[in-house]
Amino acid sequence: MTDPKRYTVTAALPYANGPVHIGHLAGAYLPADIYARWLRGKGKDVAFICGTDEHGVPITIKARKEGISPQEVVDRYYSIISSSFKDFGISFDIFSRTTKPIHHQTSSEFFKTLYDKGVFTEEETEQYYDEQENQFLADRYITGTCPKCNNDRAYGDQCEKCGSTLSPDELINPVSALSGNVPVKRKTKNWYLPLDRIQREFLNDFINHKTNWKSNVIGQCKSWLKDGLLPRAMTRDLDWGVKVPLDGIENKVLYVWFDAPIGYISATKELYPNDWEKYWKDKETSLVHFIGKDNIVFHCIIFPAMLHVHGGYIMPTHVPANEFLNLEGDKISTSRNHAIWLNEYLEDFPNRQDELRYVLNGIAPETKDSDFTWKDYQARVNNELCSILGNFVNRVLVLSHKYFAGKVQSYDFSNPKDLEILIEVKGYQKNIDKLVSEFKFREAQFELMAIARAGNKYITDQEPWHLIKTDEKRVGEILHTCLVLTHAFAVSAMPFLPFTSEKLFHFLNTRADTTLKGGIYLNQPTLLFNKIEDIQVEAQLEKLRIQANVNQIPLPKETLKALEPIKHNINFDDFAKMDIRISTITAAEKVEKADKLLKLTLDTGLDLRTVVSGIALDFIPEDIVGKQVCLLANLEPRKLRGIESQGMILMTEDTDGKLVFVSPSTLAANGATVR
Ligand code: 2FM
Ligand code: ZN
Repeated sequence: MTDPKRYTVTAALPYANGPVHIGHLAGAYLPADIYARWLRGKGKDVAFICGTDEHGVPITIKARKEGISPQEVVDRYYSIISSSFKDFGISFDIFSRTTKPIHHQTSSEFFKTLYDKGVFTEEETEQYYDEQENQFLADRYITGTCPKCNNDRAYGDQCEKCGSTLSPDELINPVSALSGNVPVKRKTKNWYLPLDRIQREFLNDFINHKTNWKSNVIGQCKSWLKDGLLPRAMTRDLDWGVKVPLDGIENKVLYVWFDAPIGYISATKELYPNDWEKYWKDKETSLVHFIGKDNIVFHCIIFPAMLHVHGGYIMPTHVPANEFLNLEGDKISTSRNHAIWLNEYLEDFPNRQDELRYVLNGIAPETKDSDFTWKDYQARVNNELCSILGNFVNRVLVLSHKYFAGKVQSYDFSNPKDLEILIEVKGYQKNIDKLVSEFKFREAQFELMAIARAGNKYITDQEPWHLIKTDEKRVGEILHTCLVLTHAFAVSAMPFLPFTSEKLFHFLNTRADTTLKGGIYLNQPTLLFNKIEDIQVEAQLEKLRIQANVNQIPLPKETLKALEPIKHNINFDDFAKMDIRISTITAAEKVEKADKLLKLTLDTGLDLRTVVSGIALDFIPEDIVGKQVCLLANLEPRKLRGIESQGMILMTEDTDGKLVFVSPSTLAANGATVR
């Protein structure tokens, strides 16, 4: 398909069991938004579809933990998630929900069509069952040890440590996530999609033809196909979800990965009740799914298989899946609260959406995992958005107001230097188009900034601030040229930095589709970007440390490690003999030839002292300087590797068994006694 008539652009439906974080934004929603905005800018017919995925076991588990209904959970997060997307300018045409009646109806009908066509195989199998809770244990209701990597917290559908897709039967030592009991097996009937047959009939060929898909995507697909697909159950013994639409079948729902992608179709129906079919059934429509890499199999294999056996639907044209974004060198983790939540970012950085959009797109994990760090965020905002773009725009607008009271001077572009820069910028715009059409949004944004770079160089070379003394007319021409560059930047930036584009159009007193004319008056500018200060970066780093420490999500009891029994009783005097003081680590260094030891200097409020601590395997010296800890200050000094250690720092273990400091929950005075 060379030039599609229209586009259906989808972004993965986020689970409505938590807010969204920067990894979600960088992985799927930002690239999808850039693409959809860019298409609209080209005048294309686009339906940009998303919504919340409101079924599945994690939602019911969360509801149970909180003692509320699954509906209350999804209502809460639908509202938080949809506000975050709106706040960041993610321009969905619809943001729907899979609990809506239209979705239940659409996915039931889809299932029923497949059932009536005889697509499913009906199988009675033995599934794990919790006798105390009277419930079958599908997917995440069961946990155990991963057979591939030995992680003892793997789920019945997936191991989050090694990324393997699992079935409950593969888990070693399975336990019910509901009661912590060892489950029994019970017979139950479910309906399976014969992926083995569909692979032979359709999928091998379908994937082999996708020569223009990203290598990370096609690589994963081929590896699934190479292993050979197996029939997969499309129903579950649960009560939360879309009811299996067959007579006499109770307490069974559609598998969440069956109904969720159909959510794209139901949301389109909701958006265009009379017209939705052309977005899903017309061969001249290009269907593009934006997702993270953990969703590849569902969008490239299972959903196309479903669409194929149903018939009448188009297949995805592209699935530009991204890899994962890490945070400060570590995996983003919801359970460990190692994340930057979009709603919280905006509390700390109000109205600074484009700064985050810019940085996330600049480091987007398009081909491999990438890392967000606050230092890098600061550097990109300060050195690129402020110093290059902000500086150029500010110079142009301030000078236009200063020399011409904001009036754009008439100009026919007769000076070749000016034509030259305009042609150069046209070149960047062409590159942006090509790169975006190839889903290379990072590189496209680099070309966008090339416009600002070129503008900066042009104005610096032309030196209007000197020329004004001798040739006011030429200065009018130079500034007019600069304003045209600013307008060109604003137009090209619309997909990437929509809030900034809006501001620029306002400053220029123009719109995307009108060219800048002599005689119009510019509006008063304000500063486009402010610098990010060191103190803001430090505050965010501290916040991440605190978040990880006060992570209050209780662990399922079966995953707790064996705990040491409580020791014999002591009397208060025994306890009072210990002098435990709050102290701050002021210096830390490795002890030579001792892998496990760090030599620490501690400010106890009363003195500075040296403590040798066996924590070198868990901490990097520079990371712990500044940390407040509890020090057993009257422990008899002893020599370790020739260094006298004057006390002992209190430590404990986090849920992964990693050493962590026992620290005051807020800043305390050094020397304060712990009792
Ligand atoms: O991984 C996820 O967050 C899923 N909720 C994505 C679903 S995408 C689609 F199929 F609905
Ligand atoms: Zn594993």
